[in-house]
Amino acid sequence: MNCFQTWPEPIVRVQSLSDSGITTIPERYIKLLQDRPTPSPNTPHNDDLINIPTIDLSNLQSDDISVRRDTLGQISRACIEWGFFQVVNHGVSHSLMKRTAEVWREFFELPIEEKQVYANSPATYEGYGSRLGVEKGVKLDWSDYFFLNYLPRSVRDENKWPRFPSSCRELVAEYGDELGRLCEKLMKVFSLNLGLEEDYLQKAFGGEDIDACLRANFYPKCPQPDLTLGLSPHSDPGGMTLLLPDVHVSGLQVRRGDHWVTVKPVPNAFIVNIGDQIQLLSNATYKSVEHRVIVNSAKERVSLAFFYNPNGNIPLQPAQKLVTEDHPALYPTMTYNEYRLFIRKRGLRGKSQVESLKSHN
Ligand code: OGA
Ligand code: NI
Repeated sequence: MNCFQTWPEPIVRVQSLSDSGITTIPERYIKLLQDRPTPSPNTPHNDDLINIPTIDLSNLQSDDISVRRDTLGQISRACIEWGFFQVVNHGVSHSLMKRTAEVWREFFELPIEEKQVYANSPATYEGYGSRLGVEKGVKLDWSDYFFLNYLPRSVRDENKWPRFPSSCRELVAEYGDELGRLCEKLMKVFSLNLGLEEDYLQKAFGGEDIDACLRANFYPKCPQPDLTLGLSPHSDPGGMTLLLPDVHVSGLQVRRGDHWVTVKPVPNAFIVNIGDQIQLLSNATYKSVEHRVIVNSAKERVSLAFFYNPNGNIPLQPAQKLVTEDHPALYPTMTYNEYRLFIRKRGLRGKSQVESLKSHN
């Protein structure tokens, strides 16, 4: 049977486990010793002082050319050194951000039976889910989510989006449009910074036919947060991600060498990160960086991840301009649909997927 028809084991909602008042977590969620989030000896003591860069995007419209150049430079360094940054003054309405985060929080607060109507399957992942990957017996992450397709329009099916809260569908549509515009802006900046034509990346992604989807993540309180993770280490498989984190509860950690930096969210900012497909198109000038989520026993956490991806059917390859004798093409040509099968089958596996592609020439 096709392994994407059904989940390999009955699905347990992490939220129900958390709400049941258990004081120890089931074995399925207990990570191997080396995968647990306890601070490694390499974590610097000045962790409080380290954060991913924050960039004021309104400076890209400054009348002063040196301010515009400096901002492009900041973005370029953030892409190369971190693969992650926060953006403020990004043009997306703060009220819309707040209302959209709130509507998803309300969705997760609905009784389980109401959410079960949207239970997803690995065939498309659309709907209410509690695991990624279909391998039997693997360790699971401490989170539930709701996944929906936004673009292209032909795959958008609003009937699969939550009917309640009643403003959900409308807000998600408005939110998706605004984030799509912000992504288009960032794609131009990345293209220019890479020395490519301004519209290079957008065109390579399929122009108007790009793929975008939204995952609302819900991380319930966890009685033993030191034993598990909300989301295992992974790089995002697509193009780029705009994450709206929970301002009140941190949890996202970004890999920096051999330690993990906890991101401190700036109010009203988005966290931007490079995905595997921009790593591929830029011939690894930019790298998708591994990240993970830790949980805690005091507060649940909601985050919204908007994934901006290449159209699934377009063959992708490193930009010719970035392929030289000194830097040969590192990746073979492949479509995003071919690429994402890996993660849909095997779940989150650090950076093993994009690394495994490297041609051995
Ligand atoms: C993701 C992700 C981080 C978070 O959804 O891919 O990395 O903070 N989320 O929820
Ligand atoms: Ni991610």
